[in-house]
Amino acid sequence: MRKVLVTGGAGYIGSHTVVELAAAGYEPVIVDDLRNSEERVLDGIASIIGRRATFHRVDCNDGDAMEKVFATEGPFHGVVHFAAYKAVGESVAQPLMYYANNIGSLIVLLRLMRRHDVKRIVLSSSCTVYGQPEKLPVDESAPDRRANSPYGFTKMVCEQMLRDVAQADPTMAVVLLRYFNPIGAHPSAAIGELPLGVPNNLVPFITQTAAGLREKLTVYGDDYDTPDGSCIRDYIHVVDLAQAHVKALGWLEHRQPPTCEVFNLGTGHGSSVLEVVKTFIAETGAKLPYSVGPRREGDVAAVYADATKAHEVLGWEAKLDLRQALRDAWRWQEGLK
Ligand code: NAD
Ligand code: WQD
Repeated sequence: MRKVLVTGGAGYIGSHTVVELAAAGYEPVIVDDLRNSEERVLDGIASIIGRRATFHRVDCNDGDAMEKVFATEGPFHGVVHFAAYKAVGESVAQPLMYYANNIGSLIVLLRLMRRHDVKRIVLSSSCTVYGQPEKLPVDESAPDRRANSPYGFTKMVCEQMLRDVAQADPTMAVVLLRYFNPIGAHPSAAIGELPLGVPNNLVPFITQTAAGLREKLTVYGDDYDTPDGSCIRDYIHVVDLAQAHVKALGWLEHRQPPTCEVFNLGTGHGSSVLEVVKTFIAETGAKLPYSVGPRREGDVAAVYADATKAHEVLGWEAKLDLRQALRDAWRWQEGLK
């Protein structure tokens, strides 16, 4: 069995990727200290894959504990590194916490990979590195902007760190995946997103509002230079996103190292906030109180992916649409009752 270390594997995207890795015949080994997830996610994964995934409750910054994982579970065929903090606003308030966790954990991991001769890594990066692109859809050749948050900067640093490591070590094989806006849940509704506290992201806020947990949704601005005035994003179903990690690992297996390639993961299609709201209501029949409020600081007007490279090189493309993702998000939310 090809064992794959999945850091942050109990999280939103990590748990869906664990499921897809298992379906593809890999043996995922989850490392997560559950700081932003819950143990019951492991039950959800088990109910889909039919067995319990190996799990270590470990902080990825703890070099000794991580050394034990590598020593007892290895050799690893590869690593998929999700573990990080991800809230843009929180990163502005607590930058050091973000730098320490997001960058520190990758340093620990890369040192252990070198010590244990693990050569393949897939990193979670983000479309946030593009800021507001000059050209849409944005492809991987667009220049990185000055990061507009400490979170965004941690992703730029992690990407650069991996480029440098691949350059210095001719045996390393790296894939950097820039996710656009992941939404939805597994169609079984056994796993999904578990935001702590008030959600920052649009879709969990929508589903919680429709479920009566929040009073109403505020649409952040309808005076942008877009067809309906609200912001445009590329919402991608989390199951499609998870499958891209399997494709990336498979691709690395056939690549001559050193390799360090970056791929956009999006649908290629932009949807406005008001379109998402209307589609959610149409697909689910749920009541969704909302009103238009002021712009949210730091939001860009529009960003959506040119994902041609992932299609041509990895053989991956998004298959599920916004409607399916919103239906799955709602089914998951309803199951949480
Ligand atoms: P998440 O918070 O659901 O998952 C992250 C997981 O990592 C959590 O289970 C958390 O407990 C764990 N974790 C964090 N720090 C850890 C540490 N030091 N040691 C052990 N476990 C730790 O987030 P997610 O949405 O699944 O995001 C996964 C990755 O994808 C992150 O790197 C994030 O930056 C990136 N990303 C997410 C989005 C998004 O919108 N969700 C978009 C682009 C990129
Ligand atoms: C989507 C749209 C909001 C909430 C963030 C990170 C990005 C990536 C994905 C990690 C925006 C609008 C939202 C609400 C609203 N994450 N909105 N009312 O900001 O595109 O991206 O998550 O890497 O880096 O920045 O996602 O879901 O917060 O917002 O109107 O209550 O929904 O203005 O246009 P965003 P989001």
